[in-house]
Amino acid sequence: MTICSSILDRVGHTPILALDGLLPAGSATLFVKLEGCNPAGSIKDRPALNMIERAEAAGLLKPGGTVVESTSGNLGVALAMACAVKGYRCVIVMDPRTNATNVAMVRALGGETDIVTEMNPADGTYQEARIARARHLAETIPGAYMPFQYSNPWNAEAHLDSTALEIHDAFDGGPDALVASVSTAGQITGIGTGLRHLGAKTRIVGVDVKGSVVFGGQKGKTAVTGMGLAWKPDNLDEAVVDDAYLVETAPCFTAARIIGKRFGVLLGGSSGASLFTAMHVAMQLGPDRTVLAIAADRGEKYLDEFYSDAWMRERDFPVDDDCDRLLAEARTLEVFRHPKAEIVEKRVAA
Ligand SMILES: Cc1ncc(COP(=O)(O)O)c(C=O)c1O
Repeated sequence: MTICSSILDRVGHTPILALDGLLPAGSATLFVKLEGCNPAGSIKDRPALNMIERAEAAGLLKPGGTVVESTSGNLGVALAMACAVKGYRCVIVMDPRTNATNVAMVRALGGETDIVTEMNPADGTYQEARIARARHLAETIPGAYMPFQYSNPWNAEAHLDSTALEIHDAFDGGPDALVASVSTAGQITGIGTGLRHLGAKTRIVGVDVKGSVVFGGQKGKTAVTGMGLAWKPDNLDEAVVDDAYLVETAPCFTAARIIGKRFGVLLGGSSGASLFTAMHVAMQLGPDRTVLAIAADRGEKYLDEFYSDAWMRERDFPVDDDCDRLLAEARTLEVFRHPKAEIVEKRVAA
């Protein structure tokens, strides 16, 4: 057992768990990478640390400085952790829909929360108001640095030499397919690019939830924490995404609930989204292949949400946690887009 001098040394090197026995015979083997094992509880520990350290090296963040960011959750918690260790003031702009545990965690880690109240009536989200408020704070607080995770290349970069390398090494050259949920697209772009640089032949599969428009589609309300964007983020590099899926909300929650009961691991709803899609991919690929789903965070934050039967019933979501039904639904999933193939087609046409 090694003794570490900073909790930040513990970011990364998360475990990978085999989900044996979950899928019907003849499917690929399904694995899940547990990013919730990062110290602040999510995959966002990696970009938070990288964006801060890159900003320090570039002279954008100096001793006595303040980190300001708009985030509905995990990045804020991760930034608050890094700022606590490094001695920066941290101001996180959130909204009334932000998960209560995330708000409490930011505060417990010494961060300040600034909650906007103005919703954009056009799409029923607070994202624009949050970003405008964070920009205003970043302009008015002396020594402030706003990472702006949606367009910051240091977000995706955080996964190149860490997440992608860990996956490449664990699978001896990479799994046959990798499935990741998307929001800022930091993880899919970073892991996909990293695996490509390492020569892996892994099929990169992105998952968005209906109502979110990262891969296109109809804007609407979303309920899966960590997912749901009203625009296409600059960090999305479609040239690394082979297949994009758009999934319903209910199976994301059911998938996470089933994994908790079957494997003793509590995961968040976006992990459910990537697992549900990974089930489909694994059933399609067939035996002797490997599929890795990225589980972005842990489930404790959602005990009063989708892990609560009452909460699920109020929203007409199922509470039976019926794995056969979920697998039947996963089997019929259809790909939404093939972004990489579309880029090649466009190039050929030009
Ligand atoms: C729980 C959770 N899942 C998925 C995502 C999406 O990850 P990315 O922003 O890298 O696309 C996030 C990002 O905030 C998240 O917090």
